[in-house]
Amino acid sequence: MKSAPAPHFKNPRASHNFQGQTCSIAAVGSYLPERVLRNADLEKIVETSDEWIVTRTGIRERRIAAPEEATSDLAAKAARTALERAGVAAEQVDLIIVATITPDMGFPATACLVQQKLGAKRAAAFDLEAACSGFIYGLEVGQQFIMSRTYNTVLVIGAEKLTSIVNWQDRNTCVLFGDGAGAAVLQNRPNAHGLLTVRMGADGAKSNLIRMPGGGSLHPASMQTVVSRLHYLQMEGKEVFKNAVTAMCTAATEAMRRCEIDISQIKCIIPHQANRRIIDAVGERLGATPEQMFINLEKFGNTSAASVAIALDEAVSSGRLQRGDLVMLVAFGAGLTWGAAVIEW
Ligand code: UT7
Repeated sequence: MKSAPAPHFKNPRASHNFQGQTCSIAAVGSYLPERVLRNADLEKIVETSDEWIVTRTGIRERRIAAPEEATSDLAAKAARTALERAGVAAEQVDLIIVATITPDMGFPATACLVQQKLGAKRAAAFDLEAACSGFIYGLEVGQQFIMSRTYNTVLVIGAEKLTSIVNWQDRNTCVLFGDGAGAAVLQNRPNAHGLLTVRMGADGAKSNLIRMPGGGSLHPASMQTVVSRLHYLQMEGKEVFKNAVTAMCTAATEAMRRCEIDISQIKCIIPHQANRRIIDAVGERLGATPEQMFINLEKFGNTSAASVAIALDEAVSSGRLQRGDLVMLVAFGAGLTWGAAVIEW
């Protein structure tokens, strides 16, 4: 009798405590609002050009949610698709984690509003705020609940209505962002494919590089905060760019080291979709081929916490990613925060 072939990677979760258990991604789903805002439309709003936006960022268009559509609506739509594909009823969901920097309101958590919209009556629900790294942070948090056998089914959603906090007078930022949502259904499936490792990091010393200062306990909403435009997203683009490349490469390298794999074993690298030049620089530094890098930012711009989740769904739906392939997710955002995940798809 032939013995089973040795796996070509190490599963860092296959420790004594977790023997035989896997946090599997049963299915993913996404939702993008219908309305498309093209670079040519932005030329009418601020002093910019399609040429500048495409060459400096790679973005050609982005989606804009309708005025009455909130982040929880986008999140619920993405989640419904993921649940349907996983064959999981809303009532089976134990926990909903919504990663977002654009919650419907200060509180309650957007996750609770999603719970109600889905009819996921049994589910606990909370929001997680790690900006563009939010979906990867969410996967790690969800995985901990699965691996500890606290919950069997966890819904992790990255959802943003960034156009609600974009300063349409600031050409440095308003051309970059879009709305959308992506969701993943995590389940405990013994000896199945799933998450191998997640690395997360943060650097609060650089919190001033991307932020929305108004409306919190430091600068509660007032006439003055509105006049000073503190309720909009602010970003030091150049500094963020440099930090993004370094942190994403470090997180990705560490994640690969823990799985004892090299870049050539990864079928598809799904980076946060902020800037084509960041993605190219990260790919180059990691020694990846252009074919390994998944890019869809030309269609959706930067959707922060939703970006990696939307791209993962597209990679799966388009057949680019097949069951058994190794995929790496890697992201960077405000906080600063960053994260990388290796998944046996
Ligand atoms: O999702 C969280 C993570 N976020 C990111 O990763 C974003 C990281 N940063 C970036 O992607 C880039 O820094 C930007 C796309 C934001 C900016 O690109 P850049 O190559 O760093 O440009 P810059 O900020 O150095 O600006 C270069 C020039 C400036 O003009 P001067 O001062 O050289 O005359 C800007 O005023 O481009 C000008 N500029 C624009 N021109 C036309 C800035 N925005 C625009 C615009 N249209 N929209």
